[in-house]
Amino acid sequence: MRWLQGLELLDQTKLPAAEVWLAIEDISQLVEAIECLAVRGAPALGCAAAYGMALAGQTASGAADWLPALEQAGRKLTAARPTAVNLQVGVDHQLAAARDLLPQVHTDLNAAKLELLQSARNFHQRDADLCAAIGNHGQELLKPDSCVLTHCNAGSLATGGSGTALAVIYAAHNAGKQIRVLVDETRPLLQGARLSCWELTRAGIAATLQCDSAAASAFSTGLVEAVIVGADRIAANGDVANKIGTYGIAVLAEKHGVPFYVAAPTTTIDMNWATGADIPIEQRGADEVLIFGGGLIAPAGIAVRNPAFDITPAAMVTAIITERGVLRKPTRANLGVHTSANCG
Ligand code: MRU
Repeated sequence: MRWLQGLELLDQTKLPAAEVWLAIEDISQLVEAIECLAVRGAPALGCAAAYGMALAGQTASGAADWLPALEQAGRKLTAARPTAVNLQVGVDHQLAAARDLLPQVHTDLNAAKLELLQSARNFHQRDADLCAAIGNHGQELLKPDSCVLTHCNAGSLATGGSGTALAVIYAAHNAGKQIRVLVDETRPLLQGARLSCWELTRAGIAATLQCDSAAASAFSTGLVEAVIVGADRIAANGDVANKIGTYGIAVLAEKHGVPFYVAAPTTTIDMNWATGADIPIEQRGADEVLIFGGGLIAPAGIAVRNPAFDITPAAMVTAIITERGVLRKPTRANLGVHTSANCG
């Protein structure tokens, strides 16, 4: 995503067939883009929300409607998708900035609007820095000439930087480790096939696409040496919400003694939710499952279950990789220390 004359999003629903940039002019367009997954991936949603708040600030006509306009925009943005905590993080970052700017709003409204945009840019840059740090810490875990399985897309498209799970792979690749990546297609919306494969091949990394249903055989034949996925929200006890199908991969990894790594910035850790059972799971529309390549693939009217995310219990996570380092065997106690501001 970028802000040149205004907010522009690379429309991820069109990839890999076309690279189309969407010009976002108001909050309702941004909410629509978030709901249809034109922009998606937890950290990228946080950055989009931060820019969206800057956009909402531009509509304020004075001090009286500065905070009300932003609070209303924040409510619309956080309601757009319930599972990724980063939407709230981006909104809260901008609300705090907007409150600090209130004195300036009284004296120079235009300058305050520019400051709010700068605050969004800073948030975006910070996310890019977090990705780089995650990559550097995580790449130490990958063996040279090894095969890593990933699910969904936790790369540059899903963040404000190089990614989370894919940042680890990029960093290992840049360290000369010759990593091969097995990419789950990630039904129903094919983030693995459309987005991760697009990113990885552009980066010159050897990627092999497989159907989700082929994952078990990849483990049983010894192909997979490590799993790395991202996260939409991590509960206080280390349970991980991520794209539907992640839990199944974790079960396979445990069964076959393969390390299962979760890469996410500490902004994705939500100490407000005790366990994964508390995390709201987004339920999406039936058409995402029923329609494939423009055609109906099941009898019309069939009931459909389409949860967008699942929960992997902390006990199945070998380590969480954040910008602060590698946290092995996450628990409520060590995650709290790792996440706290005092931890280096
Ligand atoms: O529905 P999506 O495509 O937004 O789901 C995205 C994921 O599940 C990602 O793995 C997660 O947000 C981590 S992105 C760094």
